[in-house]
Amino acid sequence: MSKKVIVTGGTGFIGSHTVVELIAAGYTPVILDNLSNSEIEVLEGIKKITGVTVEFGQIDIKDQAALTTFFHEHKDAIGVIHFAALKAVGESVNKPLLYYKNNIGGLINIISCMKEVGINNHIFSSSCTVYGQPDQLPVTENSPLKPAESPYGNTKQIGEEILREDIASRTDEGKVIALRYFNPIGAHASAEIGELPLGVPENLIPYVTQTAIGLRDELKVFGDDYNTKDGTAVRDYIHVVDLAQAHVVALDRLVNHKNKEKFEVFNLGTGQGNSVLEVIHAFEKSTGVKLNYKVVDRRAGDVEATYADTSFAKNELGWSTKLSLEEMLASAWKWQKKLDSKKSV
Ligand code: NAD
Ligand code: UFG
Repeated sequence: MSKKVIVTGGTGFIGSHTVVELIAAGYTPVILDNLSNSEIEVLEGIKKITGVTVEFGQIDIKDQAALTTFFHEHKDAIGVIHFAALKAVGESVNKPLLYYKNNIGGLINIISCMKEVGINNHIFSSSCTVYGQPDQLPVTENSPLKPAESPYGNTKQIGEEILREDIASRTDEGKVIALRYFNPIGAHASAEIGELPLGVPENLIPYVTQTAIGLRDELKVFGDDYNTKDGTAVRDYIHVVDLAQAHVVALDRLVNHKNKEKFEVFNLGTGQGNSVLEVIHAFEKSTGVKLNYKVVDRRAGDVEATYADTSFAKNELGWSTKLSLEEMLASAWKWQKKLDSKKSV
């Protein structure tokens, strides 16, 4: 049986870590990415970790013709893990059509190519943003979806809907697992691959590590008047390596026909909620570096608290996280120091 897997967005943050785990599990990933938010050097990092030079195609998923050619070249693949998407929430508010064209137009092109060459197994990157502020915590997969706070969030809801409806209409062997990630952070333990935020980071952890290394003067904590343990917002931070491994488990499930429905959804989180202040203190403890931070007003669009009910993933996939918040933060810090040393060469 072929072990080839097409990984769209495979030079990105989560994609690159997943490629490493796919290789460790005996799969042969081939990457397609347009490098709009990643760098080709990521392939060297993957090679340093795995010893494997991964086949790469610089393709834009909006380009149906180029995509079709790529899929015909790799029609022996047994599945697609579809990461390629734009993901900056703020940018999506200013450029909604860019996000719909890329994330929705691109997804439709991917589905069409898969059908054309007969690749049946699809793993889709979704997000816990689809739940908005859940009425009940921890949030299960059956919780109602809330109207999206941004065009980006909407592309994940619409993306799931398109996949669900397409699968329901089909008589072939097509099947999909949508994975709703909570807050992926950290980097590979080797620091050969990690997250590459462009410009001023929007997300907490890159802002924390950039402040700690002196690139930013001060971390702003957005709000301490939430109804949470210390007033700051609560999230479920998950190590990107644990998250990457879940993709291998999900792919195995489809390849081995272990899925119970043609369209399945899983939460991927630790089940543990941590506040912003807890993250700051855990970072200081695990790295020994003091952080300069100040509490400011809430950020528009933020939810108060969200964390995953992980029992469905645990029971059905047999997957759960292994790495602690301290390990997530220590690996993010190691990666930040590596980036800084590369810059000063
Ligand atoms: P990332 O930006 O690091 O990786 C995405 C990759 O897709 C990049 O390498 C980019 O160049 C590529 N890409 C974007 N548009 C493309 C196009 N038109 N054609 C080809 N390649 C294209 O982001 P990530 O954090 O690794 O996220 C991966 C997926 O997970 C995305 O779908 C994202 O929406 C989803 N997700 C991420 C988070 C998170 O917090 N990081 C949370 C929930 C869901
Ligand atoms: N925060 C700060 N200061 C900062 C940055 C963030 O206090 O400089 C706070 C936020 O207010 C929030 C928490 O840290 O309470 C986490 O914020 P992030 O921006 O890191 O993450 P979000 O939960 O807002 O959203 C992220 C991604 C989304 C994704 C979502 C769920 O940005 O794309 O996780 O996976 F959909």
